[in-house]
Amino acid sequence: MEEQVQVVSMPRIGDKAPEFKAQTTQGDINYPADYKGSWSILFSHPADFTPVCTTEFMTFATLEEKFNKANCKLVGLSVDGLYSHIAWLRRIKETMAFKGMKNVEVNFPLIEDIKMDVAKKYGMIQPNEATTKAVRAVFYVDPEGIIRAIIYYPLNVGRNFDELYRALIALQTTDAFNCAAPADWRPGDDVIVPPAASSKIAEKRMEGKEEGVECVDWFFCTKKLSADTIWKKVLK
Ligand code: BEZ
Repeated sequence: MEEQVQVVSMPRIGDKAPEFKAQTTQGDINYPADYKGSWSILFSHPADFTPVCTTEFMTFATLEEKFNKANCKLVGLSVDGLYSHIAWLRRIKETMAFKGMKNVEVNFPLIEDIKMDVAKKYGMIQPNEATTKAVRAVFYVDPEGIIRAIIYYPLNVGRNFDELYRALIALQTTDAFNCAAPADWRPGDDVIVPPAASSKIAEKRMEGKEEGVECVDWFFCTKKLSADTIWKKVLK
C-alpha cells in the first residue's frame, strides 16, 4: 500500500502570520490583529501539567515584564482545553518552585486549541515527533503581523530564554539601525554593515574612508553601536 503523506502547513519567515480567533485564559483574541503595533511571541507547549512546560511557563511569566518593555507581548498555546489551562496555572502559582521562582502568576493569554486548528495552521504539530501534542514552537511576529523568526524545540528540551530575548532585541536592532547581527551578538557588540551599494563605496570602505566603518574584507564590514543607543530606541 502507498504511504499516506500528511500535508501540514508551515508558515515561514517573511509570511503574514496566519489569522485566527481563539479563547484564552485572558478572554478572546483575534490574532495577529489584536497585536498590531507591537511585537508578539506566539509559542506552543506540548501539554499542561507536564514538568518541562511548567518550568517554561514559570520562566516566561517571570520575564513577561522584560519582554513587554521591549514592546513584545507573549501568547501561549497548547492543544489542552481552557479548564485544564486554568487549573494548571493555578497549580503553578500555588505549589510550584523552580530556580528561585515561587508563587508565579501567569498573566499572558494561554490559548485553548483542543481541535488543533491553530497548532496545525502554524505547523506546531510535527507528526514524527507527536501527533497529539504541539512541539515547542516560537513565532516572532512584528508590529505589522509578519513572521520574522521561528524557533522549534522538541518535546523533551526546554527553551533557552536568554536566546529568546536576545533574538527579539537583535530583530528590533537590525530593523532600527539597518544592520545585521553577527554570531552570538549582544547589545554593545559591533554590528555588520549592509553590503556596499557600489564598488566605489566598497573601495572607500576598504581604504578606511567611510566614517565609523571598519572592514576585515570587502564583504565583512562592521560599525560600533552602543548598548545605550539600542536600549533608548527599543525599550518603552
Ligand atoms: C514536559 O513538559 O515535561 C514534557 C511534555 C511532553 C513530553 C515530554 C515532556
